[in-house]
Amino acid sequence: MKTPLTTVSVNHHSTVNVLQITDPHLFADKTRDLLGIVTWDSFTSVINAAIGKVYDFVVITGDISQDYSVESYQHCAEALSVFDCPVFLLPGNHDELSMLERHVVADNFYHQARVQAGNWQLHMLNSTSGTRPGGEFCQQRLEMIEQRLQSGQDHHQMLLMHHNPVLSGSHWLDQHCLKDGPQFLERLSGYPQVKAILWGHIHQAFDQIQNGIRLLASPSTCVQFLPNSHDFALDTLQPGYRLLQLHTDGSIDTQVHRLEGARFIPDSAAQGY
Ligand SMILES: [Fe+2]
Repeated sequence: MKTPLTTVSVNHHSTVNVLQITDPHLFADKTRDLLGIVTWDSFTSVINAAIGKVYDFVVITGDISQDYSVESYQHCAEALSVFDCPVFLLPGNHDELSMLERHVVADNFYHQARVQAGNWQLHMLNSTSGTRPGGEFCQQRLEMIEQRLQSGQDHHQMLLMHHNPVLSGSHWLDQHCLKDGPQFLERLSGYPQVKAILWGHIHQAFDQIQNGIRLLASPSTCVQFLPNSHDFALDTLQPGYRLLQLHTDGSIDTQVHRLEGARFIPDSAAQGY
């Protein structure tokens, strides 16, 4: 296991290619479903669909487990073992950090690391609050992020986390956003090298630009939440993943890919999450 704040230099193309996979919500029992979707099946289906695409490394942006079990984390490691490139992980609100770091382990797995790839740096951040489903950076983490940005001023920067630092548009979800998102974004205004923020948590694709920063979120590998819904609601879109191309001039191309067909349909009677 690699300790937090490790800096990892990765081999890359002239353009840095990233595969994001997020929010698998695995159980100890591989046959268990979350709101009608068997999360092991959907997770491995997404991985199988992504294998063979162009990426230099993989980022997993939290909510690995749905039941906090050792086995769920071991299952995650098993599924991710198909990747021979570096795999970077950070925790979500459904994760127990110590279990994640203890049981999702391999020589090419790294937890909460800084990724060095050409003239890009990516920072895998912990936005969890420990007790609440919502996220929080708090003063100490905000200062740590600023220190990292100050030490990497000659690099394009991307910040990765679990929680959304801006509102998603779904009231029920936004109760659990990053509590100090406005303060976080305010601090970033002094760092024009920050090109993008990428997160999970909201189980839907999101792509906006605010103050010159690309704000991105991605589908879960299991259930999808319906965008712009005041109350809890599921979407019937299929699980998916995101690819990103980080160019040397700081520009970004990105695409969301979803599984073909309609294999993973959530329980239409589900009232909550
Ligand atoms: Fe999630």
